[in-house]
Amino acid sequence: MNKEAIRQQIVDTANRRYATKKYDPHKHIDPADWQTILEAGRLSPSSFGYEPWKFILINSPQVKEDIRPFAWGVANSLNGADKLLLILARTDVTYDSDYVRGLVEGLHHHQFSPDSKASQSFKHFQERDMAINNDRERFDWASKQTYIAMANMMTAAAELDIDSCPLEGFNYQKMDDYLTTHGIIDPKHWRASVMVSFGYRDQPIKPKVRQPLGQIYEELN
Ligand SMILES: Cc1cc2nc3c(=O)[nH]c(=O)nc-3n(C[C@H](O)[C@H](O)[C@H](O)COP(=O)(O)O)c2cc1C
Repeated sequence: MNKEAIRQQIVDTANRRYATKKYDPHKHIDPADWQTILEAGRLSPSSFGYEPWKFILINSPQVKEDIRPFAWGVANSLNGADKLLLILARTDVTYDSDYVRGLVEGLHHHQFSPDSKASQSFKHFQERDMAINNDRERFDWASKQTYIAMANMMTAAAELDIDSCPLEGFNYQKMDDYLTTHGIIDPKHWRASVMVSFGYRDQPIKPKVRQPLGQIYEELN
């Protein structure tokens, strides 16, 4: 494919992805397509490579009904999306956490010490440069990163002609309480970040309404 065709394909995919409000409950995503979408999430970039996320596929009809009363923005997806994914963000990523130790030693096969240069530069970045010093601030930082994974998954889906909808229309406190009381998360480590649904639309794709580039883009020369 030549460069111009690739450019056109990128723009076509961006136009094709839209927040699907009505899904066809009879259409299902091919398992290989689903694995590809998950792979697009898994391979997403994260700060320092610390992957502060978990992707939970909600298949349980009971869980879907339980969350419905406090998930107003998710109702359309609950009614027909083939896949409903809850993305969790970690609250516990610190320079001296067991989680980071596990990643550095177990995944990257490097030596770990909270006193090492690498650990200390992460500590300074987090605590001084980003002013991240408590669970809530760590969650917000991790949550921002989960949205990158979500976006990559939605773009991958659009390339496969699969529809999607990003979802933060739910009560976060009630969701975290529900996930905690049902043993789905340990709130010392996780909170709900965002949800996203995938499936096949039962409505035409809505044309994009966006501000012109001139209004949202500037160059500092
Ligand atoms: C972070 C985020 C959260 C959103 N939450 C919801 C939601 O809870 N329910 C919903 O139906 N749409 C939700 N949307 C979809 C937006 O309404 C939609 O993306 C926007 O209107 C632009 O339309 P488009 O995505 O079709 O281009 C959300 C979008 C984003 C980016």
